[in-house]
Amino acid sequence: VTEPTRPGRPGGLGRLSLRLRVTLVAALVTAAGLIAVSILLVLSLRSGLIGGLDDAAQSRATQVAAAVRGGQALGAGSVPDDSTAVQVVDVRGKVVQSSPGLVGRAPLVHPPVPAGFHQADNARIAGSDYRVLTLSEGGLTIVLASSLKDVEESTARLTTSLALGVPLLLALISGAVWLLLGYTLRTIERLRRQVAQLTATGLDQRLGIPPARDEVRRLAETMNDLLDRLERALHAQRRFVADAAHELRSPIAALRARLEVTAAAADPEGWQFHAASMINDADRLTRLVDDLLALARLDESPGPRHARAVDLDDIVFAEVARRRAAGTASGIVSIVTAEVSAGLVEGDPELLRRVVRNLLDNAVRHAHSQVRVGVSTSDGRVELVVLDDGPGIPGQLRSRVFERFLRLDDARGRDDGGSGLGLAIVREAVLAHGGSVTVEDARPGARFVVWFPENRSLRDS
Ligand SMILES: Nc1ncnc2c1ncn2[C@@H]1O[C@H](COP(=O)(O)OP(=O)(O)OP(=O)(O)O)[C@@H](O)[C@H]1O
Ligand SMILES: [Mg+2]
Repeated sequence: VTEPTRPGRPGGLGRLSLRLRVTLVAALVTAAGLIAVSILLVLSLRSGLIGGLDDAAQSRATQVAAAVRGGQALGAGSVPDDSTAVQVVDVRGKVVQSSPGLVGRAPLVHPPVPAGFHQADNARIAGSDYRVLTLSEGGLTIVLASSLKDVEESTARLTTSLALGVPLLLALISGAVWLLLGYTLRTIERLRRQVAQLTATGLDQRLGIPPARDEVRRLAETMNDLLDRLERALHAQRRFVADAAHELRSPIAALRARLEVTAAAADPEGWQFHAASMINDADRLTRLVDDLLALARLDESPGPRHARAVDLDDIVFAEVARRRAAGTASGIVSIVTAEVSAGLVEGDPELLRRVVRNLLDNAVRHAHSQVRVGVSTSDGRVELVVLDDGPGIPGQLRSRVFERFLRLDDARGRDDGGSGLGLAIVREAVLAHGGSVTVEDARPGARFVVWFPENRSLRDS
């Protein structure tokens, strides 16, 4: 068993440059093809010419036989030129007559000679090769020798032309392949150099698009698309880090200020008062870091981590209970769960709880008096609706509320609102579960609609 040649450790041809390798292979294949065609050409020319010669010899032999039967002597008139010679041989192998060129020569064939036409061995007459045909009838044999000189000359002429033409054609084809490859590889090498430069200078530059509409151009365009996406991702990442740092600053600064005040305060009652605020600040920090961590995890792995069958309705009831226990804003907002029915989904219960909690918290924070939550199942989808009667979200901002760190109600102050990560987490978590989330106008208020693919496996069994 031979080991396949591994990439990276090439042997033989692989050591040469790509340009040389391809040109060499093209030249070898072309040479083999041209040589095969040349050999075929020479052979078929030769066999064609000899066929013609034999046909002419047969008709001439017939003529000579008729002349001999008529008692004519073989004179200069009976053979057309010196490329043909004739002998008449009797049954004992004696030469009875010969054309002028063969006078005094031993018979070219020896009896017994087969009756009728017969192709005998080639003979050498006066230094050149002749094809020998015999026609045996009535005790006499007509021996007709045709010179192969013309055939040899024509074959030699064709061979010479091919011997000159084939290398020339080979050189032309190889040269064309070499030049074309050189051009193509140069454009690729130019692209490579531009990419190498990019990694040194940053992602804001783009590759030059070659003019020819070929694969190299498509490669360059695809790489530019890739660079666009990389640059956007890099910017988003940088903005996220900057925003996160900015968000973390204010609670830390607040915490520090309170610590300073506490340190300066003399009485233990003042400490207690400040300690409560500091715990608040620390909680806010914890929440923020939790959210950042959740987003980082969602960015990292596209699917839910600990997926299993989950009853979405159970999660909704649990979260509503938690929310009621924690107390709704100013205590006047009621949460209605009349429209919650069964909804079985496949997913990570922790993430799904987060989705429900973030939507519920937002709704309770913005509602005037009532929040309505619903879960329903239809057409293989489980739909979760969270609806409030608050101010709603202006149309042009509806697609943007899911962006990270986006807060529409900055004026309400940081203590009241969060960091603007809640809906971003909702969107990422929902997408990770193969669902989608949208926000609509509920006139008045906002209506968040989330759907997940239904988990049918358990329900059917
Ligand atoms: N039910 C709603 N009614 C009106 N506006 C809303 C509603 N839900 C969200 N918004 C607006 O969308 C913004 C983004 O919401 P998101 O939940 O992402 O952030 P947040 O609630 O401010 O902070 P966090 O959820 O991280 O504590 C909010 O600041 C708010 O302006
Ligand atoms: Mg929120």
